[in-house]
Amino acid sequence: MTTDATPCHIAIIMDGNGRWAGLRHSPRVEGHRAGVRATRAIIEACGERGIKALTLFAFSSENWRRPRSEVGTLLDLFRRTLQAETRKLVDNNVHLRFIGDRSRFPDDLRREMERAEALTADADGLTLSIAVNYGGRWDITQAARALADAVKRGELEPHDIDEVAVASRMALAGVTEPDLFIRTGGERRISNYLLWQLAYTELWFCDRLWPDFDADALDEAIAFYQGRERRFGRTSAQAAAMQHA
Ligand code: IPE
Ligand code: IPE
Ligand code: MG
Repeated sequence: MTTDATPCHIAIIMDGNGRWAGLRHSPRVEGHRAGVRATRAIIEACGERGIKALTLFAFSSENWRRPRSEVGTLLDLFRRTLQAETRKLVDNNVHLRFIGDRSRFPDDLRREMERAEALTADADGLTLSIAVNYGGRWDITQAARALADAVKRGELEPHDIDEVAVASRMALAGVTEPDLFIRTGGERRISNYLLWQLAYTELWFCDRLWPDFDADALDEAIAFYQGRERRFGRTSAQAAAMQHA
């Protein structure tokens, strides 16, 4: 029995910008600019399809290892895109939030992120989470630290630490776990993305480079999702019975 339903939450690794530019003999930054255009289109397409949450990997905790000039260009592009697009997100009822370790970003960029979050805080349409300086291991580590702090303050006993307590301290707390994961660009790996949250997510890898990913490609991924039987450890018969309950 397949799900048939539209996924509530889609998480994407937007990969392949650099190769897209390379194929055109252009500098990598051109690929990142084209990547922003694809991102805009996919946010809109998700809204139109009634998807409730979209989580995008924009910059990983490992991407600081890139040449300084590329990191600088990415931060500039991020800053300018935020300034240019926030108004449109408000108009489209998109609730924007950032996940990741902000402490490494310059003050002005942090303020810009907070401003965009505040402006969209009341929106109840698509929840758009952008992962910047994000790593799945960082996320689990900061949740562990928050739990240790709570124990130290006497608010929590160690034996009360269960999966709910951990999940409530993860960066995506309050958003349902991703139903569908998409990675463009041909690599079949998770690259330290949402390690905790992807436990039961359906995984879709496609060779298309991110700047070429469009609404039709999104529909292909959704069709793949709708063809899955989600059993969460149960038997097929049990899963079917639950769907009808
Ligand atoms: C994804 O595209 C964007 C970021 C990681 C910021 P890449 O820049 O990784 O593109 P490729 O993988 O080199 O083609
Ligand atoms: C993953 O892409 C991170 C983002 C898309 C932001 P990378 O291009 O950094 O991943 P690896 O290094 O090839 O695994
Ligand atoms: Mg890449």
